[in-house]
Amino acid sequence: MSKPRSLIAGNWKMNGLSADGWALADAIVQGARDLPAGRAELLVCPPATLIGLVAEAVTGSPVALGGQDCHADRSGAHTGDVSAAMLADLGCRYVIVGHSERRADHGESSATVRAKAEAAQAAGLSAIVCVGETWAEREAGKTEEVVTAQVAESLPAASTSGNLVVAYEPVWAIGSGRTATPEQVAEVHALIRRQLGSRMDDAGAVRILYGGSVKPANAVELLAVAHVDGALVGGSSLKAGDFLAIAAAAPAQAG
Ligand code: PGA
Repeated sequence: MSKPRSLIAGNWKMNGLSADGWALADAIVQGARDLPAGRAELLVCPPATLIGLVAEAVTGSPVALGGQDCHADRSGAHTGDVSAAMLADLGCRYVIVGHSERRADHGESSATVRAKAEAAQAAGLSAIVCVGETWAEREAGKTEEVVTAQVAESLPAASTSGNLVVAYEPVWAIGSGRTATPEQVAEVHALIRRQLGSRMDDAGAVRILYGGSVKPANAVELLAVAHVDGALVGGSSLKAGDFLAIAAAAPAQAG
């Protein structure tokens, strides 16, 4: 089976005001023209305040737009929250849900994450569902157990390769400069692929991203690992040159 086309997703987190958000998006749009045609799909996920502006910057370009979170409800009395329909309305095609920073900072359970992913899919978005173990869980030999449970409990039943992306992000590798080894990544990605295979028909076409201190220096090695279909990039997505270099490291597709 041929590998799905890589998705290189930038998670800007809580960074950027109007001027730098525009400049970053514009530099990515310009630089994307020089990438090998069709090799990787580029996605930027700015903070909610910048989505409207970045939507203008990426209009007419192949760079896709996404949110970093959404509420499980379509509308209503949820002060400060943003719904998936609102993101879709601004031109988003993706939304990250269940990032470990939200699981930790906002106490989001896998059931909450699944509800958000369902809302995203209902609004026509692809949900990028994040899973990953902490260092303590890895040290205790619980990586497989934790990731298996998160996948089982966080993914909507109606997921297909057209509305679901899974991101494996070991919590200890996020923003730490400490990247998982290719062997560690291969093991968990194969586990996730097997688990997807037991619950959906087109599991082979679902993109499974690796995230956690991905940078130009390690991107070639990580993106070449079996069952790695792209990257979820935090810190390095804030520098257009680094983000584009990671995209350029995506392997060529066979067929
Ligand atoms: P990082 O973040 O690339 O800065 O480690 C990745 C993420 O949190 O998605």
